[in-house]
Amino acid sequence: MTAISLLRVPATLAEPEGDDFAQSARVSDAVERAIWGHDDHGMDPAERLARDQPTADRGFVLGVARDRGRIVANVGIGIPPRDNLRSAVVQIEVLPSYRRQGIATALLAFAEQEMADRGRSIAMAWSEVRVDDGPEAGPVLVPASGAGSFPATDPSAILALRSGFELVQVDRQSVLHLADVQGGRDGIARQEREARAVGSGDYDLVGWTDSCPEDLIDDYSLLRQRMSTDPPLGGFAQEEEAWDADRIRREEDRARMAGAETLVCAVRHTASGQLVGHTILDRSEAKPAVVYQEDTLVLGGHRGHRLGLWLKAANLRRVLDEWPTAQRIYTWNAEENSHMLDVNVALGFRPSGRTAGWQKTLG
Ligand SMILES: CC(C)(COP(=O)(O)OP(=O)(O)OC[C@H]1O[C@@H](n2cnc3c(N)ncnc32)[C@H](O)[C@@H]1OP(=O)(O)O)[C@@H](O)C(=O)NCCC(=O)NCCS
Repeated sequence: MTAISLLRVPATLAEPEGDDFAQSARVSDAVERAIWGHDDHGMDPAERLARDQPTADRGFVLGVARDRGRIVANVGIGIPPRDNLRSAVVQIEVLPSYRRQGIATALLAFAEQEMADRGRSIAMAWSEVRVDDGPEAGPVLVPASGAGSFPATDPSAILALRSGFELVQVDRQSVLHLADVQGGRDGIARQEREARAVGSGDYDLVGWTDSCPEDLIDDYSLLRQRMSTDPPLGGFAQEEEAWDADRIRREEDRARMAGAETLVCAVRHTASGQLVGHTILDRSEAKPAVVYQEDTLVLGGHRGHRLGLWLKAANLRRVLDEWPTAQRIYTWNAEENSHMLDVNVALGFRPSGRTAGWQKTLG
């Protein structure tokens, strides 16, 4: 018999809730390991705590299910406090040995009550499966966009449909093994040169590590804001996020607290001096082999000049130069985002997983 309760996210692991938070973090790791068969997406409790810390831009509520005092399942509820005021993001994780006992169903009911108490009526959620090299077998679900598919027999899909969620988008997870990059560093540098030749003299690149230069921060916050709604959203009711220089600095602080390193490359329109695109790579110092490709964006009006490939190739070359211990890069893209997927395939990324995007409007 499990009991569900809120767990206050402590400021540090030394606080009274620290042990419980560490247990909950280990549940998250075990669930990641069960999906992927490796620990790349695991995080030690201190890093998870830093990432889950509520900030002015990120509300976060954690519910846990216990069996005789021991935490066996989590529900994390992300509640944006500044924008997207109707929605919340729900993430349920149940230890494999505790599945099929109704725990996720109970955690979802708990999350929906927490959402309702905070005036949130749109629940968004993601679930993932690994893609192996063999052919896909079995029935699949297809979102309204028609792009991509997700196995209908995955427990997350059965639970989601049964609970009133709709499949609104499918993302592809891709991985680039740096040892397999065609032509190595020279190959990337060649792609960078070729992409640059298309944009010719109209643009130049600027790059920074961890902290955005003060004179670029207003342009950069506009790019971050656009990133929230410019990529294809499928059926998600995502609204534009509110970004400004202060939010950029808070996010940089949060990354620093989590022990993350970040490489940003941005493209500037030379005539106007405006930043018109950016790309972000980051990794945790606790796991230097594993890099994540975060945002990539080129503003409308500047597309079609190979700026996306130029940005990505340039930042990838920085990884090879500045992070010699990096071994692989993961990225997620909507299946209908064919322009971005084409760039990634050209750089050598290969499919490694599928992510289902679910959404439910509460009654
Ligand atoms: C999806 C997940 C949360 C389900 O947890 P759970 O506690 O086993 O779910 P429940 O016991 O509440 O199952 C509810 C219903 O979902 C369906 N279901 C869940 N797992 C199933 C399975 N392996 N096979 C068939 N149906 C399944 C059943 O209809 C089940 O009801 P029933 O047992 O009365 O038939 C769990 O498998 C998990 O942690 N997966 C990885 C993380 C994830 O995908 N989370 C969801 C994204 S938010």
